[in-house]
Amino acid sequence: MHILHVVGARPNLMKAAPVFRALAKQPRAQQSLIHTGQHYDANMSGAFFPQLGIPEPDVNLGVGSGSHARQTAEVITRFEPVVLQRKPDMVVVYGDVNSTLAASLVCAKLHIPVGHVEAGLRSFDRNMPEEINRLLTDQIADLLFTPSEDGDTNLLREGIPPARIHRVGNVMIDSLLDLSPKAMACKIDSLPERYALITLHRPSNVDDLQTLKSILESLLEISVQLGVVFPVHPRTRQRIADWGLTTDNLHLLEPMPYVEFLALQRRAVVVITDSGGVQEESTYLGVPCLTLRDNTERPITVSLGTNTLVGQDRKKLSSELSNILAGKAKKGVIPPLWDGHAGERIAEILRN
Ligand code: UD1
Repeated sequence: MHILHVVGARPNLMKAAPVFRALAKQPRAQQSLIHTGQHYDANMSGAFFPQLGIPEPDVNLGVGSGSHARQTAEVITRFEPVVLQRKPDMVVVYGDVNSTLAASLVCAKLHIPVGHVEAGLRSFDRNMPEEINRLLTDQIADLLFTPSEDGDTNLLREGIPPARIHRVGNVMIDSLLDLSPKAMACKIDSLPERYALITLHRPSNVDDLQTLKSILESLLEISVQLGVVFPVHPRTRQRIADWGLTTDNLHLLEPMPYVEFLALQRRAVVVITDSGGVQEESTYLGVPCLTLRDNTERPITVSLGTNTLVGQDRKKLSSELSNILAGKAKKGVIPPLWDGHAGERIAEILRN
């Protein structure tokens, strides 16, 4: 059985690693790893492979950045010959990035079965490019691996046959648990004693001058009472530079490798983010999370976990933060099947 995994962007890597490693234990599984090159900076991609214990990609398609249409089209064009040449029995795609949809589309047309890991998540906000990627990938994939019950419900509502849906739990938590000992031992120099950890990269937050300016002003206000540690995504760094926005008093860092970022997250007083994965990781770690979005495709982090949606409402951000600093943070629980064995469950289903 030849299984070909497709990764493209940073959040794919911690999802693919547990599946790859679980399949590596099966004697009959032959695997290849294709990187589309959607993310290409070392600290957005290359640095993650050795930490996550997966080999370097067999092929890098080198698509790079571009408009959604161009990036998606480049993956489609460059991935098709790889599939034709390697003739995999199954292609596994991850998450909701442009590479995920592009690779799925190629396989659907070539009648190669596709497994989608992290299927069924919905924000119900079609302004998000990821929502389009999720909806379409799930329609054309053959095996849908969901992290939680809401994923199953969404897929059934969209007419997906129940036999295709497999609730396996959250693969990101497999990686988190696997690398927790390293994260606990990881020391990061010259950090404030108590800090808020920030991540910010959604187009809705960073591509509009007034919105980004307002978020940075909120962070500057927070920095009066709490350190603000902010590993800056390249897209966000570019916008801050283009518009000459003030970030004095913020502790800006380059994007962090996985273990270092987990270490930062574990020790944070609060995480303020617009990322999807970080909402889940903070829920697992029991760290309060304030999400700078009006919706989330991971509602379980709000209903069971430590996550609160604050959107772009500065007053809400400030009042929620005051609650957390006053020791009144929301106490979450760890959702079902976030147990470190999701990758094994996927490998078992693929084997059968
Ligand atoms: C992509 C995903 C998003 C995911 C995010 C994680 C889509 C639609 N979006 O968004 O779901 O949460 O990755 O980071 O697939 N850039 C670099 N170096 C890199 C990669 C990007 O400098 O290695 C810069 C480029 O200027 C590029 C911009 O970042 O134009 C955005 O990159 P892109 O891959 O288009 O989207 P992300 O915002 O990273």
